[in-house]
Amino acid sequence: MTDHRQAIAGVFDRAAPTYDSVGVEFFGAVGRRVVELAELRRGERVLDVGSGRGASLFPAAEAVGPVGGVTGIDFAPAMVALTLEEVRRRGLAHVEVEVMDAQEPRLPQASYDVVLASLVAFFLPDPVAGLRAWRAATRPDGRLVLTTFSARDDDRWAWLEEVLPMRDRRASQPDEEESSPFDTAEGVHALLLDAGWVDASSADQRHEVTYDDPDQWLRWSWSHGMRMFWERVPADHVDAARELAVARLQEMVARDGRLSNQMDVRYTTASAGPLLT
Ligand SMILES: C[S@@+](CC[C@H](N)C(=O)[O-])C[C@H]1O[C@@H](n2cnc3c(N)ncnc32)[C@H](O)[C@@H]1O
Repeated sequence: MTDHRQAIAGVFDRAAPTYDSVGVEFFGAVGRRVVELAELRRGERVLDVGSGRGASLFPAAEAVGPVGGVTGIDFAPAMVALTLEEVRRRGLAHVEVEVMDAQEPRLPQASYDVVLASLVAFFLPDPVAGLRAWRAATRPDGRLVLTTFSARDDDRWAWLEEVLPMRDRRASQPDEEESSPFDTAEGVHALLLDAGWVDASSADQRHEVTYDDPDQWLRWSWSHGMRMFWERVPADHVDAARELAVARLQEMVARDGRLSNQMDVRYTTASAGPLLT
């Protein structure tokens, strides 16, 4: 794995114990929608790429049932270990989760009916390589559901850029140029076509994410990909950055004491096309 991928795996490894478990509803809602769009049938085999703590893996396991199968892959060992614990706790014998790099996965060829890849493709330095490998692992009539962030942002949160060295929340390469194929649906569709996926179609959905108070937002921001930006703040500036964030968050608290963030997620579906070499 390259240094860049190792750095991202490290961030998610440290985030894993709190990922999607600080009481904020977002990843779960996205994962359930992904599975709805996949229209899974009982008995199907699913590959869940970047499975994290199982936001789409567990609903997929339920949809395909014990006669089907779900394989989750993620390169953060702690994500895999914690998700496997939950798989065992729920007694799901038809689910496996493995530590694997999604860009160069070791997967059986032509084996899966459906690939799910929620909020992960933009982390790959070479997304086409990953998408091609997932296509090769898919059956000829297979399908894909992928999610990314749409480029629209909730302006009320623009201050985040002052507090955290974010540059681009949809992509994670420190030296990356401002524009990314993930900025537009057309960009995502072009990547898919390059990788052997056809009939791509996208729809954006707004998720209204709410937080109990500034403290919950702070804990949430450390529990997912945003942790990467917190970790880029020099150690002797972290307290000041936190104080500035709390001041801004307090200005955003609504009458009911809560905060809200409109997060626009792009849901893209595609079908397996002819295999490209
Ligand atoms: C934002 S989380 C999404 C997790 C899950 N799909 C969800 O919706 O909650 C991104 C996940 O992708 C994983 N990931 C990022 N790059 C990866 C790569 N190259 N190979 C495997 N996993 C990767 C991270 O470890 C993390 O668990």
